[in-house]
Amino acid sequence: MKYRAVKGMQDILPPDVHVWQALEAAACRVFSLYGYQEIRFPVLEHTEVFTRSIGETSDIVEKEMYTFEDKGGRSVTMRPEGTAPIVRAYIQNGMHNLPSPQKVYYMGPMFRYERPQKGRLRQFHQIGAEAFGSPGPEIDAELIAMLHAFLEEAGLGGLQVELNSIGCPECRPGYRQALLDFFADKREGLCPDCQRRYEQNPLRILDCKVPRCIELRQGAPVVSEHLCEGCREHFSSVKSLLELMQIPYKLNPEMVRGLDYYRRTTFEITSEHLGSQNAVAAGGRYDGLVKEFGGAEVPAIGFAVGMERLVALTGDASARAPVPDVFIATLGDRAGREAMKMAHELRQEGLWVELAYGQGSLKSQLRRAGKLGARHAAIIGDDELDRGVFNWKDLEREGSGEADLSSVRGFFAERLRQD
Ligand code: HAM
Repeated sequence: MKYRAVKGMQDILPPDVHVWQALEAAACRVFSLYGYQEIRFPVLEHTEVFTRSIGETSDIVEKEMYTFEDKGGRSVTMRPEGTAPIVRAYIQNGMHNLPSPQKVYYMGPMFRYERPQKGRLRQFHQIGAEAFGSPGPEIDAELIAMLHAFLEEAGLGGLQVELNSIGCPECRPGYRQALLDFFADKREGLCPDCQRRYEQNPLRILDCKVPRCIELRQGAPVVSEHLCEGCREHFSSVKSLLELMQIPYKLNPEMVRGLDYYRRTTFEITSEHLGSQNAVAAGGRYDGLVKEFGGAEVPAIGFAVGMERLVALTGDASARAPVPDVFIATLGDRAGREAMKMAHELRQEGLWVELAYGQGSLKSQLRRAGKLGARHAAIIGDDELDRGVFNWKDLEREGSGEADLSSVRGFFAERLRQD
């Protein structure tokens, strides 16, 4: 084969695509109950949108962005995530003038030049949500509850909400210093990236995947123990609201997220069935980002679900694939023409109709109907046409017979309604 998809990028084919469609529909359904509306934004952004927000020292910006110069010599980047572009869109479109909070959701492809492995692709898909304009813990708890409801609607059990607060600009400097003190005599042993992170952003060391760094950070100070009064209160309200709504969670004081924009509440939804890439969804508060982008002081929070990981957890796709309502098998040219008309009419009734297109014996046509899982067959030949009738067969249950051609529209619609 001459051409293959680009490494780390996948085709999504039937029947798997039905699982995707069901998940996307579930997201629209559930998110709208919480007042979230869809936003669509470009796949390409000016590179700075990401470098300024995700952080110069994050893995994404350091190594993983698909960045190139366009023909006008501008540096553009294929979106590695949705939050930064949405902040850009929020400001550019004056959404801060709309009633607050503004709640949006999105779905679509993201691009990161990572080492492809199970659960990690270079083009992957996210369903995400962001809420702008509310600083209070209520929106944090509501957003996490919404994510939980979506994952339940998707039929996923055995998931764990992991929760943390990573503080704000008031308490971060104290924590930063505590980390610098802790790593001062371990610095030489860290990987080259982390030696640089020590200078620039020591929090990143806690997110490094190099085994030696993981070892060296055992016993490092945890952020939740360095929160200021405001962050502590905010966090404790988030927790108590989650308890009120009976959303189970587990505190994970070691969770620091891989993107720089987070403040206060952060969370991940993990599954033990996913191996090392175990986060199905992740998110948190990013109160400073709108201002950082030149907008007003607008607090915000959001999350993104990794679709491929979600799909991997939902099991056998073929069981969910829809099947045709009626398969029309024909014998002879006249019947083939009549089948086109019949199919057209039945489709106008809202039925899924498959045709044989004049191919094969009656037996092989019916075999194809069986393979497709069609629920009913209509069979027509010259003899039936002369008598103005068609033969029908219920392929799911026993039953067959003859009916008037003129009644075909109502006939199948009625039978399918009875099912
Ligand atoms: P993130 O943790 O980078 O957060 O990604 C969110 C989810 O996307 C991950 O938990 C994972 O399921 C999925 N994911 C990430 N990278 C890959 C990959 N290479 N292959 C497959 N799946 C992947 C964000 O993107 C933030 N924008 C979330 C957010 C929204 N925070 C606030 N608002």
